[in-house]
Amino acid sequence: MKNSKINKIGVLCSGGDGPGMNAAVRAVVRAACFNGLKVEGVMRGYQGLIDNDLIDMGPRSVSNIISRGGTILKTARSKDFRTQEGQAKAMATLKKHKIDGLVVIGGDGSYLGASTLYEKWRFPTIGIPGTIDNDLFGTDQTIGCHTAINTALDAIDKVRDTAQSMERVFVIEVMGNRSGYMAMEVALAAGAEDVIVPEFKPNYKQLCDNIQAGNKKGKISWIIITAEGGAKADVVAQTITNMTGVETRSVVLGHVMRGGTPCGADRLLSTRLGVAAVEEMLKGNFGVALGVIRDKLNVIPLAQARKRDNDIYQERLRLIEMLR
Ligand code: F6P
Repeated sequence: MKNSKINKIGVLCSGGDGPGMNAAVRAVVRAACFNGLKVEGVMRGYQGLIDNDLIDMGPRSVSNIISRGGTILKTARSKDFRTQEGQAKAMATLKKHKIDGLVVIGGDGSYLGASTLYEKWRFPTIGIPGTIDNDLFGTDQTIGCHTAINTALDAIDKVRDTAQSMERVFVIEVMGNRSGYMAMEVALAAGAEDVIVPEFKPNYKQLCDNIQAGNKKGKISWIIITAEGGAKADVVAQTITNMTGVETRSVVLGHVMRGGTPCGADRLLSTRLGVAAVEEMLKGNFGVALGVIRDKLNVIPLAQARKRDNDIYQERLRLIEMLR
């Protein structure tokens, strides 16, 4: 199976960390060693390539990390790598360490970096979708998204207790960058009464009419989910208070959603894709992004794998409105 051109690979995590990144690093390292390859871990993403910050890795350096949140390799958003000079330094490091191929675990910006290395510098790269936002083409789910949704639900269930007890409206802001995907999924799974996402203009009149009509029918508490890329929770809460006189509080979940033990679905996805990255590299299949679609490995060119719009919104909204 070993491709004679690939003797040593590098692996890095880049952009926002997410639960399951460690499981992916573990799978890459162990699959590489299983296939007789050497592996170096690059610290802090592309910045570590520029700064020549690499560590030798073997099967034991990834012991007991399958269940750990974050990433042992650290991660960063490197401004320097966007420059020609930064990229040249990164290439010099790859050459110095005799690395023949690089596995990049990250989201949209990380894929742009991997695609630049491949297209512009002719260096073999493969992308694994590691972002809680689930906003990449070529995969049903990105690594970390399932866990982030569960983490949000855990927090929202707790807020529901106080919302019920004090008969209040709560606006809860969830992460997701410019995408409303997580907000929509979280809203439906939390049994939230309403949701605001960047993909649609907020209709405050309708929202407030619903709250007032619900109150008349004896509905005492409301949970409204808003996506960080759209209307901010404090602004929505203030607007509701101004328009209805109903006491409304806001909660921002923020980075809490990025942490914690990866759930089973994320560990499975990370593990399968980590092994697939090594196997695709050995086949000489470079410049590609990996994913799983309907339980099957999916391989597409990196350049096509960037930002995707999800098409779940109308169906999810219909259900939220029906079940409120
Ligand atoms: O892309 C992952 C993500 O957590 C987004 O949901 C969020 O918008 C962003 O990263 C936050 O980035 P930072 O940690 O740099 O503030």
